[in-house]
Amino acid sequence: MDKRAADRPIRWGIAGPGRMAQAFVKDFAHVEGAVPLAVGSRNRDRAQGFADEFGLEKAFGSYRELCECPDVDVVYIATPHPQHKAIALEAIDNGKAVLVEKAFATTLAGAHEIVEAARAQQVFAMEAMWTRFQPVVRALHEVVDQGQLGQLLGVQGDLYAQRDFNPTDRLFAKELGGGALLDLGVYVLQFAQDFLGAPNQMEVKGTLYPNGVDAQAGMVLTYDSGALATLAVSLQSTGPGRMVVMGDQGWAEVKPRFHHPDRVVVHRKGVTPRTLAHAPAGTGYAHEIDEVNAALREGRLESEIMPLSDTLAVMAQLEQALHAVGVKHTDQPL
Ligand SMILES: NC(=O)c1ccc[n+]([C@@H]2O[C@H](COP(=O)([O-])OP(=O)(O)OC[C@H]3O[C@@H](n4cnc5c(N)ncnc54)[C@H](OP(=O)(O)O)[C@@H]3O)[C@@H](O)[C@H]2O)c1
Repeated sequence: MDKRAADRPIRWGIAGPGRMAQAFVKDFAHVEGAVPLAVGSRNRDRAQGFADEFGLEKAFGSYRELCECPDVDVVYIATPHPQHKAIALEAIDNGKAVLVEKAFATTLAGAHEIVEAARAQQVFAMEAMWTRFQPVVRALHEVVDQGQLGQLLGVQGDLYAQRDFNPTDRLFAKELGGGALLDLGVYVLQFAQDFLGAPNQMEVKGTLYPNGVDAQAGMVLTYDSGALATLAVSLQSTGPGRMVVMGDQGWAEVKPRFHHPDRVVVHRKGVTPRTLAHAPAGTGYAHEIDEVNAALREGRLESEIMPLSDTLAVMAQLEQALHAVGVKHTDQPL
């Protein structure tokens, strides 16, 4: 693996200089052994503006050029969801590792295409599900693995993130993969997947905006183990962003908003509640960046913490939920 030799930093390319990329790039200040080297945009001036602002060496006026850049080891894809697949395939085709923002794709078939391409090219691929890498979530896994909550029987949570409806914004525009499920549902479903595994059944109800994308959704999932998950998401209403893991000997709440938490409160039967506090590095993206860098240095093609099998399982649940509320998305060409 000469390009990722241990004596030089891993070089990142950033696809899509939008809101998320601006937050992500700042967390390189909390990462060792990696640099954001290049950025790609549909517009060269926008790419150059981003490169100037964040000190990147190279700016490209197309995603194809970024993916073809021989100096880039890994491409981070932060475009709207429908463009993830096309850029990921282009990057993989050029032998690059990929970190693909959530939701990984807008369809299960699209997600499978990315995974199959990465496996065929023997390159690393991961969904940028940063929540799984938060120190607090790792600590909660230890609590569960030690049996402190007893037998896990449930996950209950919401991700309500009120935004004013704007049909041209990617959060709401159908052609940009808008709607609550792909943007927020992915967080609650992946959390349940992380602690309970794949469900055997899921019931879904939802409400739509006038343009036909999902505004709110509620999901009830059952599992072979006998566990039950109740999950809800909304772009319309405010809400706590609360996530609770429940067992027959205790329960734990991830706080303050579970998708970027800094503490978990463990309640065990007959025991005073205990708070485990672990602040994330930077905004919290540094941990997933570290995971990708470690995998590339070790020659791993997947993350054990965010495996592709979980991405595909959650994508299947998202697609089922979308269809249940009457929404169909498509992945778009570059
Ligand atoms: N992990 C997190 O905490 C988190 C938070 C927010 C968002 N995200 C994810 O990050 C991704 C981007 O979200 P965002 O909020 O950053 O979106 P955004 O602000 O709208 O930026 C998206 C970028 O994608 C590029 N793009 C490429 N093709 C496009 C197209 N056809 N239409 C519009 N833009 C296009 C645009 O750059 P050019 O026009 O310059 O090409 C734009 O700068 C989404 O998948 C979202 O789920 C993750």
